[in-house]
Amino acid sequence: MITNGSERGLWSSKLGFILAGAGSAVGLGNIWRFPTTAGQYGGGAFVFVYLASVIFICLAVMIAELTLGRHTERNPVGVYKALAPGTAWKYLGLLGVITGWGIASFYSVIAGWTLGYLFKTATGAFSGLSPAQITGEFTSFTSNHVATIGLHGVFMLITMSILFGGVKGGIERWSKILMPVLLIILILLVVRAVTLEGGGKGLAFYLKPNLENVSLKSIAAAMGQAFFSLSLGMGTMITYGSYLSKKDNLISSASWVVTLDTSIALLAGFAIMPAIFAFGLNPQSGPGLIFIVLPNMFNKILLGNLFGAGFFLLLAVAAVTSLISIVEVPAAYFIDELKFSRKRAVWIAGGGAFLAGIPAALYGNFLGWMNKIFGQYSLIIGSLGVALFVGWKWGTAKVEAEIRDGNPDFQNAKTYAFFIRFFAPVSILALLIFLVLFPGLF
Ligand code: PHE
Repeated sequence: MITNGSERGLWSSKLGFILAGAGSAVGLGNIWRFPTTAGQYGGGAFVFVYLASVIFICLAVMIAELTLGRHTERNPVGVYKALAPGTAWKYLGLLGVITGWGIASFYSVIAGWTLGYLFKTATGAFSGLSPAQITGEFTSFTSNHVATIGLHGVFMLITMSILFGGVKGGIERWSKILMPVLLIILILLVVRAVTLEGGGKGLAFYLKPNLENVSLKSIAAAMGQAFFSLSLGMGTMITYGSYLSKKDNLISSASWVVTLDTSIALLAGFAIMPAIFAFGLNPQSGPGLIFIVLPNMFNKILLGNLFGAGFFLLLAVAAVTSLISIVEVPAAYFIDELKFSRKRAVWIAGGGAFLAGIPAALYGNFLGWMNKIFGQYSLIIGSLGVALFVGWKWGTAKVEAEIRDGNPDFQNAKTYAFFIRFFAPVSILALLIFLVLFPGLF
């Protein structure tokens, strides 16, 4: 242990961490990005690779990030400076800080769309429209640049105002109330979606892994989505782990976050996929997909406007609890390493992400690229780096010792060592090498 934990503040309890950690993990990644990406990259085949990545790669990386954070009680750059001083490892931390900006920039734009859609659904703007007209609404909404940039700014300001005051009290409390409500609305939507006429094709697309649909590109997309959804590969879980108490069981905390996040992503797929097919939409239509599918479904539901508004409100809340954890990474870096005040750090982290997000608010294609570069490849590379660092540089004996704090009976050190030293890095590296060698397949 390097500094005294009580000086930096801790989560109020194990539950406090699980809520904040799940708050970070559960977000637009589950409801917007998971079904959209699954639709683009082969449905069931994508889901299969996604689940395999979560179980065999991400859980190990999640434990690694939390362990690094709790052991050093530092931000991602500080971790490598503390454990491998004078080496290039600090650039891995820096990659995380830059990725934080990259993801925050487009994430906030989409979160802004949810605010717009909250208003539109509440005021009945979609009532009685045909699927084609609803698609048209999305196109005209996203080409209204004053609205998209304005809402992006509003969303970033909300995020920054939470970060100004520190994360703890508000977020922990709000997550506790709002996450279960999100879950209930999602379950209602699932029930409606799976009983839609013509939805069966969507379920088949979602659940049947068709091997023809597996390509290097889809594996990369599924792996990237798994890291994105679990907030791995850019140091968020390092930072959140640094507020964990030595009494907490790292393995069970990590497993809780992974299980909650994965269940909510899978549920979202059950709500979206049948609806895409029932309304004759194209599963490959990309980032706008849920904004087109869901209003169609709300039109079919009793009190649809109310449900719709409630849903987009909660989606916005889920996005806030994630966006704070993304912007917190560059902010923590400025506070710890450059000794900025919290206020200045948050202004620069959030303000920078706002400016970087303007092109994404203006051009849908640009948003798609940012999503791919930062939300997919950066996180894959960052997670590879964490696995290599923990497995080969810092060493699994140190990990085991840290895990034993709060979990003295930990039995699975050998299994863990296998996954973090061999399975995770070898499979990620193999994917990256193939992608470079065979760009045609990608
Ligand atoms: N996991 C978040 C989501 O699913 C996004 C995120 C990515 C958060 C990376 C932190 C770090 O929406």
